[in-house]
Amino acid sequence: MRVLLLGGTTEANRMAQALHAAKIDAVYSYAGRTRHPVRQPIPTRTGGFGGINGLRAYLASERITHVIDATHPFAAGMSRNAIAACEGPLCALERPAWQIEETWIRVPDIETAASALPDRAARVFLAIGKQHIGLFADRPHHYLLRLVDPPAEPLPLPRANVIIAKGPFDYATDLALLRDHGIEVIVSKNSGSEGARAKLDAARTLNLPVIMIDRPAIPARTVFATQTEVMRWLTHSADRGV
Ligand SMILES: NC(=O)c1ccc[n+]([C@@H]2O[C@H](COP(=O)([O-])OP(=O)(O)OC[C@H]3O[C@@H](n4cnc5c(N)ncnc54)[C@H](OP(=O)(O)O)[C@@H]3O)[C@@H](O)[C@H]2O)c1
Repeated sequence: MRVLLLGGTTEANRMAQALHAAKIDAVYSYAGRTRHPVRQPIPTRTGGFGGINGLRAYLASERITHVIDATHPFAAGMSRNAIAACEGPLCALERPAWQIEETWIRVPDIETAASALPDRAARVFLAIGKQHIGLFADRPHHYLLRLVDPPAEPLPLPRANVIIAKGPFDYATDLALLRDHGIEVIVSKNSGSEGARAKLDAARTLNLPVIMIDRPAIPARTVFATQTEVMRWLTHSADRGV
């Protein structure tokens, strides 16, 4: 057995520890988006594979038998490529989505989130990372961004404050953050992560609206919510000689 673990999340980091503890031959794959990725107890590789064909070639040359997709629920491109490229067993380790609350405005994608913001200028906590913030540039708002690394290039947003911080975040910190910046509305992806939940609890305390972006659709695949279930799946498929 040789496992490819597609990572970049807390769940993937926990999975790497479980694979290491079980002495399973595995490699952890990072996209290479952050400057200081978490050190892993198993070998790592970094960077895109080069689309579906590149991944197919990698799986063959590295003699990968199993793929565990523990990427972020919004990393849909990687997940779709993995499904298309992988001929052997593949499963996803995915945290459940947050249950929608009454005060949340649910939108299907990031583009719709931008148009769901108020027409008048507002102070917005744009908690969606930095990849797609350009979609919010032509709105009149003042944005607060919280990013893992300082941006290497000028941001496409004319009015923005940037905080550099890496999660997980806690309720008290996020409550203070929302108050200090006079935030009036929050835009969030439905990532479902524990560490990203604090801002939503703080928003509830302050009675702030939350624009919640639905997860992108990914074709059907085997999905587990915990690394224990993934370990069971691996052991079971090894027992069957896969
Ligand atoms: N999207 C988010 O909100 C978010 C939040 C937190 C962490 N992350 C993490 O950040 C990374 C990139 O996310 P994304 O949304 O940019 O992905 P994406 O849009 O689904 O992927 C774009 C391309 O990046 C490469 N890639 C993505 N994840 C990779 C991985 N784990 N290992 C090797 N290559 C990878 C692949 O390139 P090729 O086609 O060349 O193979 C993929 O086609 C992922 O590891 C994800 O878990 C994403």
